[in-house]
Amino acid sequence: MSKYQIRGGNRLHGTIEISGAKNAAVAIIPAALLVDGVCRIENIPQISDVTLILQILRELGADVRTVNRTTVDVDCSHIRNRQVPYELARKIRASYYLVGALLGRFGWTEVPLPGGCDLGGRPVDQHIKGFVAMGADVEVRSGLICAQVPGRGRLAGGQIYLDMVSVGATMNIMLAATLANGMTIIENAAKEPHIVDLANFLNSMGANIMGAGTDVIKIRGVSRLRGGTYSIIPDQIEAGTYMAAVAAAGGEVLIKNVIPKHLDCITAKLVEMGVDVEEQDDAVLVRRDGPLRRVNVKTMPYPGFPTDMQPQIAAVLCLARGTSVLTEGVWDSRYRYVDEFRRMGARIQVDGKVAVIEGVGCLTGAPIHACDLRAGAAMVIAGLSAQGVTEIDAIYHIERGYETLVEKLSGVGADIRLISYPEDESQPQVG
Ligand code: EPZ
Repeated sequence: MSKYQIRGGNRLHGTIEISGAKNAAVAIIPAALLVDGVCRIENIPQISDVTLILQILRELGADVRTVNRTTVDVDCSHIRNRQVPYELARKIRASYYLVGALLGRFGWTEVPLPGGCDLGGRPVDQHIKGFVAMGADVEVRSGLICAQVPGRGRLAGGQIYLDMVSVGATMNIMLAATLANGMTIIENAAKEPHIVDLANFLNSMGANIMGAGTDVIKIRGVSRLRGGTYSIIPDQIEAGTYMAAVAAAGGEVLIKNVIPKHLDCITAKLVEMGVDVEEQDDAVLVRRDGPLRRVNVKTMPYPGFPTDMQPQIAAVLCLARGTSVLTEGVWDSRYRYVDEFRRMGARIQVDGKVAVIEGVGCLTGAPIHACDLRAGAAMVIAGLSAQGVTEIDAIYHIERGYETLVEKLSGVGADIRLISYPEDESQPQVG
C-alpha cells in the first residue's frame, strides 16, 4: 500500500509536459492485433493500464519490444491464442477492445467481461449490438463475452445506430469493421479526440475509415493492414487535471505537449471561473491570482465538458465564491469521492446526478481514500490547495492513468511525496 502525502498551500510555477493519451493508447495497442507486420507506437504513456494491455497482448502471442521509454514495437503476426486471460482482463475496462480486434481478425474470441473504475452500471450491450449487426453470434456466459462469426470467417459490414453516445462501443465497432467484408456505418457515434486518433492509426496502417470526429462514421472493410509508425495524441484529461490543479493552488504553469483545441471545453469553464488561460501552438499557459467564481457545469460527450474532469472541477469549485451546481450527464454514479472531500471541510450535497457545491474558500488536509482514477486525481488537487497535510491512499487507482504525477507536480513546486510501504507495512519508505 503506497500513499501520496501532500502539504498544501504552495503555489505552482513552471512547466509540465503532458504524456500520451491513456484512452487512445488502450484502444490503439489492441488495434495492433488487426495488423500484419510491426506497428511502432510512439508517445505511449507509462501508466499501469498500458502495462496491463501490453501484457495481455504478450499472453496472446504478440511480440512486444520496448524501443524507448515511450515507444514500443508490436508484432501480432503470430498470435496463437484468441482467449484472453481472466486475471488480466478483469482489471481493466479497455479489455473490451480485444473483442472487436480479435473478432475482426480471426472470426472468434472469448474475452472476460471488463473491469475498470466503479462508476455505476457499465453495460456493453451497444458493443454487442454492433457485432451482431455485422453477423457475429455473441453471448455472455461464465463471465466471458463469447463472440464468433459462423464458420469463423470475416464479419460483414452492417449499419448500427447507437442508442446512446458510447466511446467504447464506437471504437470497438470500428475495430471489428476494419477487416470486415463491405461497409459499416455507425450512427450517433462518439466524437472524442481518441476516436479520431484510433481512426488515424488504423488509416495509417491501410484501413478506410471516414467521418471519425463526426456522429456518422463509415468504415469500408479492407483485406489486410500493414505495419507502420504512429504517435499517440497528448492526453486531454491529464492536461485538464493539471489546469485544474493550477486553478486550485494558484500560480502560473505552462502545460506543454497538448492540442489546445481538445482543451476548449475545459478552458471555457476555467476562464468563466476567473482563471487566465493563454493558448499557444502546442501548449497552454494557465495562471490564477485572484478569487475563483462559482459556475454551473454539466458533463456531456465531446465536445461537451468531459465526465473524466468532473471530480477535478468539483475540487476547484469547493474553493470558489458562491454555490455551484454540477450535473453528471454520462455516468449513474460518479460522486463517491464526495464523502472524502467532506473530511476536508467541503460542503457538497448530492441528489442523484446533481451535486450542489457551496464554496468554502479553503479546505483542510485530512487522510482520504482514492476511490477511483479521476476521483483520486481530484483529491490530489484538493490536497494541493488545502491547509495542512493530506494523505491519499489506494493510489494504484491514480497510477492507472497518470504518468509520474509526483515528479510532474514536484517540478512545479508542489510539496507532494510518494510514501511506499514494504511488504509488512511497518516501515514506510519515502520517495
Ligand atoms: C470511456 O468509457 C472511458 N474509458 C471513460 O474514462 C469515460 O468516462 C467514458 O468513455 C466517457 O467519456 C476508456 O476509454 C477506457 P461509454 P466507456 O461507453 O467507453 C452507457 C477514465 O477515467 N453505455 O462512452 O466505457 C454507459 O453506461 C474512464 O479514464 C451503455 O449503456 O464509456 C454510460 O452511461 C472512466 N451501453 C454511457 O453509455 C453500452 O454498451 C457512456 O459510456 C456502452 C455504454
